[in-house]
Amino acid sequence: MNQIAASQLSGLTGLKVVSFESRLAGAMADLISRQGGTPISAPAVREVPLAENPEALKFARELLAGRIDMIVLLTGVGIRALLTAIEGAYPRAEILAALSRIPTIVRGSKSQTVLRDLGVPITVAVPEPNTWREILSAIDDAAIPLQGRRVAVQEYGRSNPELVAGLAARGASVMRVSVYRWALPEDCGPLRRAIKAITEREVDLVLFTTAVQVDHLLQVAAESGLEESLRAGLQDAVVASIGPTCSRAMREHGLVVDLEPEHPKMGPLILTVARHAHVLRRIKRARVVRGTGCLPAPCEVRQAGEVREDRSAELLQESAFLKACRLEPTPYTPIWIMRQAGRYLPEYREIRGKLSFLELCHRPDLAAEVAVTAVERLGVDAAIIFGDILLVVEPMGVGLEFTKGDGPVIHDPVRSGADLKRLQPVDVQESLSFLFEAVRLARAALPPNIPLIGFAGAPFTLASYLVEGRGSRQYQHTKSLMYRDPGAWHALMERLSDVVSGYLNGQIAAGAQVAQLFDSWVGCLSPDDYREFVLPHTKRVIANLTPGVPVIHFGTDTATLLPLIREAGGNVIGLDWRVDLDEAWARLGHEVGVQGNLDPMVLLAEPDEIRRQAGRILERAAKRPGHIFNLGHGVLPQTPVDHLRALIDYVHEETAR
Ligand code: CP3
Repeated sequence: MNQIAASQLSGLTGLKVVSFESRLAGAMADLISRQGGTPISAPAVREVPLAENPEALKFARELLAGRIDMIVLLTGVGIRALLTAIEGAYPRAEILAALSRIPTIVRGSKSQTVLRDLGVPITVAVPEPNTWREILSAIDDAAIPLQGRRVAVQEYGRSNPELVAGLAARGASVMRVSVYRWALPEDCGPLRRAIKAITEREVDLVLFTTAVQVDHLLQVAAESGLEESLRAGLQDAVVASIGPTCSRAMREHGLVVDLEPEHPKMGPLILTVARHAHVLRRIKRARVVRGTGCLPAPCEVRQAGEVREDRSAELLQESAFLKACRLEPTPYTPIWIMRQAGRYLPEYREIRGKLSFLELCHRPDLAAEVAVTAVERLGVDAAIIFGDILLVVEPMGVGLEFTKGDGPVIHDPVRSGADLKRLQPVDVQESLSFLFEAVRLARAALPPNIPLIGFAGAPFTLASYLVEGRGSRQYQHTKSLMYRDPGAWHALMERLSDVVSGYLNGQIAAGAQVAQLFDSWVGCLSPDDYREFVLPHTKRVIANLTPGVPVIHFGTDTATLLPLIREAGGNVIGLDWRVDLDEAWARLGHEVGVQGNLDPMVLLAEPDEIRRQAGRILERAAKRPGHIFNLGHGVLPQTPVDHLRALIDYVHEETAR
C-alpha cells in the first residue's frame, strides 16, 4: 500500500559505485555489494614498498657523510617510515646521532612526539596551523642560514611544492625524501574505464579513500584528454570522501564532496553513502535537468521537465493525497506527518550535526534532501518542503535566530507602530529564492505520484513571534498591541499577509501542489477577537493564492474557532486532538476536508496502542472522502521512526478499499 516501499530504495540497491581503493579493493567491493550496489573497482594508487626506497637510502648516505645541513620533518608516520626504510642498510643509532647534529624543523605535534621518543633534539617546532607558510616563517624567525645549504625535506604521501620552492628561493638546495612513493597502478585499464564511465554518466556514486587517488585520477584523465569531462561527470554523480584529509585534497583540486562519514573508515563511509545516496543522486540529476542557482521564470518551470513532467502532472493529480484534498474517493486514506522532515529522523540529525538550522534552510540541495528522505523513510503520501514559517521574517531585519533550547528568537521584536516602521520591505523573489530552489529540487527528486506541500505561517502566528520575540504562553505583548493600537496591528497583519501570499505563490510556481497555512497559535484568541483581528487577513491571504491549488488551513486549540477558520478559507481544515473528528467535521460542514487528528504524544506509546488510537480516529472519519490522516500537531523529536511507520502502515492497510 505504501507509495514507496522504503526497502526498495534502501542502501545502494541499483547504484553503480566506483571505488578508487587499492589495497582493500576487495573488502570495499564486498561492502558495496552487501548494500546492494554494483562495485566498479578502479585502483588509482600502487604503494611502493619501503624496502625498495632508493631515495631513503640515498638520503641516509648523504646524512652520514655530513652532506645534509638541515632537515624538515613533515609527519610522524613519515619519520618512522623513513627510519624503517633505512634500518636494513645502516645502523639506527648512527642515523639518530647524525640527525641530532643538524637543525631539525619539525611540523605538528605527532612529529614532535616521535622525535622526542627517538631522542633527537628539535630545533624549530612549527606552530599551528602548520602549512608551508608557517614552516618557512618559523625557519626565517630562527635565522637558520639557507644560502648554499643542503636541506632535506621528508615527505609522506603527497609532496609539498610550495615548501620546496620557498626553500629554494632562500638559496637552499633541496633534497626531497619521499618515503612512501605512491605510484600509478601497473595496469591503469580499470581506472581509465572508470573515468570513461563517469564522463558518460554511467556511474551513480564515486568513493575516494585517500588523497593521492585524487592526484592520480586527475592525472590519468588529463593524459587521455578527459579531465574537463571527468570534472563535469563528477558533478553529476554523488561523490564521497573517507575523511577530512581526503576531502581537503578533493576541494583543493576543485572537486565537490557530497558526503563524508563521521569516522574516516570504510565501514562508516559505506553506511553514510547507503543512507543518502539515492536521494542525493536524484537531487543531483534534478539539478542537471533544471540547471542550478538561477530562478527560471514560472513559465519555464512548467516546460522544464519535458515529457516526464507532462505525465507526472497526471500522476500527481491522481494521487490519493490530491484526490482527498478535492474530496474525491481514494483507494485508501492518505497520510503525512506534520514536521515529518525533522529531528526524530537520524538522517536529519546527521545533516544538522554539520550546519545550523538556518544554514540548512539556506541550502536548497540539503533542504530538498531532508524533505525527500522523510518521504522515503516513512512511506507517506505527501512531502512537505523543508523550511520554517519564520524564514519570511528574516529579510525584515528583526534579528531572527534559532537557539538550542528555546527555539526561534527575534532579537528586535515589533511592539509598537514605531517598531513597525523599522521593518524592511521584503522582495519575496529575491530574499526567498533559496526556498523556491529547494522546492524545485525536491519536486524533481520526488516520485511522480507524491505531491509536495508548500507552507507558510498564517499572519497571526507570524505576528505573535514578531511581537513576543519568541514562543509564548500568554501572548501578552501580541494582545496588547492588538487592543491598544488596532491601527498598528492591522498594518502589521497586512504587511505579513502580502509577504505570505507572495511566498506561497512562489512555492506553487516552483513546483508545490498544495499550500498549507500554519496558524499554530491562533487558538489563544476568543472567537470575537479572531473575527475582528485575524479573519480578514487570513481570508485575504487565501483569496490571493494561485487558483486551483488546494489549501490546508491548520491551527491548534481551535475547537471554538472552527466555523470562523472555515470562513477564512481552505479546502482542508486541520484539527488537533482536543476535538472529536466526526463532530468537528460536522460543524465545519462536509464540503471541506479535514486533516488530523492524533495526539503526537500517542506515538511515544507502543504500536498496539498507536493502532488502537488511530483506529478510533478512522472510525470517526468513516472513510468519508476528504480525510487526510495526520497528527494534531507536529511529531515530537523523541518519536521512534518505527512507531511512525507502524502508524502509517496501519492507516494504509486499515483503509484499503
Ligand atoms: O513539517 C516539516 O517537516 C517541514 C519543516 C517545518 C519546520 N518548521 C522545521 C523546523 C515546518 C512545517 C515548520 C513549521 C513551523 N515552525 C511552525 C508551525 C508548525 C507547528 O509546529 O506549529 C512553527 C510554530 C515554527 C516555529 C519553530 N521553528 C519553532 C517553535 C521551532 C523550535 C521548536 C521545534 O519544534 O523545534 C522551530 C525550529 C524548527 N523548525 C526545527 C525544524 C526541523 C528544529 C530545528 C533544529 O533542527 O534544531
